[in-house]
Amino acid sequence: MKLILLGPPGAGKGTQAKMLTERFAIPQVSTGEILRAAVKDGTPMGQKAKELMDAGGLVPDEVVVGIVRDRLQETDCNKGFILDGFPRTVAQADALQVSLQNMSKKLDRVISLKVDAQALIERLTGRRTCKDCGRGYHVKFDPSRQAGVCDACGGTLIQRNDDQEETIRKRLQVYADQTTPLISYYQEAGVLLELDGMQPIPQVQKEMLSLLQAG
Ligand code: AP5
Ligand code: MG
Ligand code: ZN
Repeated sequence: MKLILLGPPGAGKGTQAKMLTERFAIPQVSTGEILRAAVKDGTPMGQKAKELMDAGGLVPDEVVVGIVRDRLQETDCNKGFILDGFPRTVAQADALQVSLQNMSKKLDRVISLKVDAQALIERLTGRRTCKDCGRGYHVKFDPSRQAGVCDACGGTLIQRNDDQEETIRKRLQVYADQTTPLISYYQEAGVLLELDGMQPIPQVQKEMLSLLQAG
């Protein structure tokens, strides 16, 4: 299955992608996670990306397009993949089409998660992420068993640099300006499915699975 999860910051792309990964044994390809790993490692790409990410802006198209092109050629993507946070601009979507064509692959589905702005802010300000394994939590909606400690690996839970309210508002604006055109882009391509992302996490998961199984 070759899938894109589309949706604003905090829509639940990462949360749902992690569940689909386990269910279908295909990798989650999150440009945000790949970039954060590069920032952590202090690579030249990470050093350039950090400032843009902390300010809530986008990293240049050519950088993320290159990351995804390389990642999709790794063997674990042969059976399929879940793109999370990519594409985010029409130029990225066009580049993805070219990459997939070159690999004789085709997208199966794009699932668009819809969530109100107010809920997104509450989700992102309460999000906690494991420093070691990257698993996401929410202080109210999806708490870890022990505050500040990852259930999965015992790692420390931290807040992302870009989850400050002012930066969140900037990210939401960038999404509205640059990413929402992809909804009609994929609608016209006949691959878009819309899902109400305002529901609790298990309900979103259930509906996502039934959408995917309906083919
Ligand atoms: P990225 O890491 O992709 O961030 P994002 O798109 O802003 O999305 P988030 O990760 O914040 O949200 P999510 O939808 O994954 O939500 P989650 O599941 O965690 O990108 C970060 C930055 O990297 C960008 O700003 C940009 O600078 C750069 N970048 C990345 N990709 C790029 C690209 N393609 N081009 C250019 N630049 C790029 O859930 C959020 C919280 O809500 C969690 O706490 C979770 O527990 C909770 N939650 C989830 N679902 C529910 C639910 N149904 N009900 C209640 N709570 C829920
Ligand atoms: Mg995410
Ligand atoms: Zn962990």
